[in-house]
Amino acid sequence: MTTPVLLPVINPNQLTIAPKEMREKFNIEMVITNSYVIWKDGNLRERVRGSDVHSLLGFEGPIMTDSGTFQDHVYGDVEVGHEDIVRFQRDIGSDIGTILDVFSEPDFTEQEASRAVDVTLNRAKESVDHKGDMLLAGPVQGGVFPDQRRRCAKALSAMDFEVHPIGGIVPLLQSYRFADVVDIVMISKSALDPSRPVHLFGAGHPMIFPLAVLMGCDMFDSASYAKYARDDRIMYPDGTRFLNDLRDLACGCEACSSTSVDDLKEMERADRTRIIAEHNLRISLRELQKVKNAIHEGTLWELVEMRARAHPAMLEALKALINHVDFMEKAEPTSRGAAFFYCGPESYDRPTVLRYRDRFFSRYRRPNTKVLVGFDDADKPYSRHYAKEIRDVSEKVDASFLVASFFGPVPIELDEMYPIAQSVIPKNLDKEVVQRIRDVMERHAHGHGFPLAVIWEGDKTLEFLQEIAPGRGLVDMDLLRTRAVLDIQFGKGAADVLDGRKVEFVKSRKTGKIRNVLVDGRHAFSMRARDGRFTLKMDGAEMLMKALPPPAMRVMIEDEPAEFAARGANVFAKFVIDCAPEIRPGDDVMIVNTKGELVAAGRSLMNREEMLAFNRGIAVRVKQRTE
Ligand code: GUN
Ligand code: ZN
Repeated sequence: MTTPVLLPVINPNQLTIAPKEMREKFNIEMVITNSYVIWKDGNLRERVRGSDVHSLLGFEGPIMTDSGTFQDHVYGDVEVGHEDIVRFQRDIGSDIGTILDVFSEPDFTEQEASRAVDVTLNRAKESVDHKGDMLLAGPVQGGVFPDQRRRCAKALSAMDFEVHPIGGIVPLLQSYRFADVVDIVMISKSALDPSRPVHLFGAGHPMIFPLAVLMGCDMFDSASYAKYARDDRIMYPDGTRFLNDLRDLACGCEACSSTSVDDLKEMERADRTRIIAEHNLRISLRELQKVKNAIHEGTLWELVEMRARAHPAMLEALKALINHVDFMEKAEPTSRGAAFFYCGPESYDRPTVLRYRDRFFSRYRRPNTKVLVGFDDADKPYSRHYAKEIRDVSEKVDASFLVASFFGPVPIELDEMYPIAQSVIPKNLDKEVVQRIRDVMERHAHGHGFPLAVIWEGDKTLEFLQEIAPGRGLVDMDLLRTRAVLDIQFGKGAADVLDGRKVEFVKSRKTGKIRNVLVDGRHAFSMRARDGRFTLKMDGAEMLMKALPPPAMRVMIEDEPAEFAARGANVFAKFVIDCAPEIRPGDDVMIVNTKGELVAAGRSLMNREEMLAFNRGIAVRVKQRTE
């Protein structure tokens, strides 16, 4: 199946929508049911004996089963052995079983939460031996306590599980404490093995899907679609409405298009429930499809920020997410396919913005001019908008140029690099963002190192500069751009590969932009029009090997796969020995063998933690080979 995926909950005693229909009419790939409900019910148990859960439910696709933990949370009378229920799930042919974890309530004291974690971990240890061929889910518990969640996630990651649900969050979801859910999920995610899928237990409302997927949740289960329907509650991506409060269904799904609010109200209860359940399921599936599109386009942050406006609790959740931006940054691709859209003051805290700022301050090396001229933000690309000013000043003054942008200080030579040119930011920004940009520019003002810096105020600035800093400015914008992008993209010092060498450019005849960079006649780098970053050629990789001391921008792999990579084969994660910590998905990297020798170059699909954790999948797509 493809993640993110929604598993409708099937109650074997109450089939609001039959599983067979789910597959045929709704394209449901996988469902979840409760093994404890089957175990406890003599009749169901008899029916499943000798056949399996797939024929019991009449569902041919994969089936996940839960263990009774939630029944224990709701009714408190679960009396099945934790090993027995795992064996039972295995024996009835469940595809993914779940251990009998201890539901850690949000109002637990830390001591109680710690106890729930202890018991969950003990049961986990004793359960994995019984799973057989079944995949097994080990839920993270720990209440609202970061230390407990972290401890639980770490210990479970060291055991033989295939899936890690995040448990104990249903009461938080029901009381709209989404910010607490965010903290719990992010703490758990940061301590879990990144190669294992994460299931958000009990999150069945579409309004939470974009946020949850952005946090790295892969699987969801929904009992809500049917439960809500029984109370005449209708789900939408921005919340829930009571049928009685609606004027119009405002939905074109298959369930809604043949009925109306009035029709529904007049219907027999069972019929009404059925139609609302269908709608609830369809709207949930559609929201996940939207999420998939957003991932494909590179606009998931935008979708989450838009959804955050639907409810103040969602806005609080987004603000809570921002506290975990350092962790998010490690998984943020170097560039996204779509432009960066400003959706509100929270956009300023996206990983992309943080990364630009950090890399600018830690990697950028200023040109050696006497003067820095600062421009206000303007239309992009900046070098085109300020072309005349730059030309006029450069003829008479030894100056560099910089724009005070939303992302921070942008040297004019970086103006085509993602996300600078690929962003849409309104002119009138929220006050708090204006202040934060000002703070960053202040930081820059204190440390930029130019003997003189001025803010451009038209011709009078030029006259002033001409008197105190006469000379000639930077005329070779292509060289300047190449140096700056090399340093920002590969690390401070990367631009040294150009020192003392002959540098030539192949440029697009249509746009005038750099296409290829030739160093001493060798094609070293190609600049992508899409994001203004370099694709590494073999010659460029060889040069960077000398300019950047190991392990910078290198992925070290085992020697035998290195021989294959040298001939163009992709690098699988399981062969990775180590990876430079600064590498991000989308980075152009050098692939080296155990002696540290360059064997190939390619595009990374993972960060270091992921490369070391994954046992399957491609870590680096090889683009350039040595043989
Ligand atoms: N369903 C909803 N929450 C939970 C949980 O914490 N554990 C299990 N096993 N199932 C759940
Ligand atoms: Zn509908």
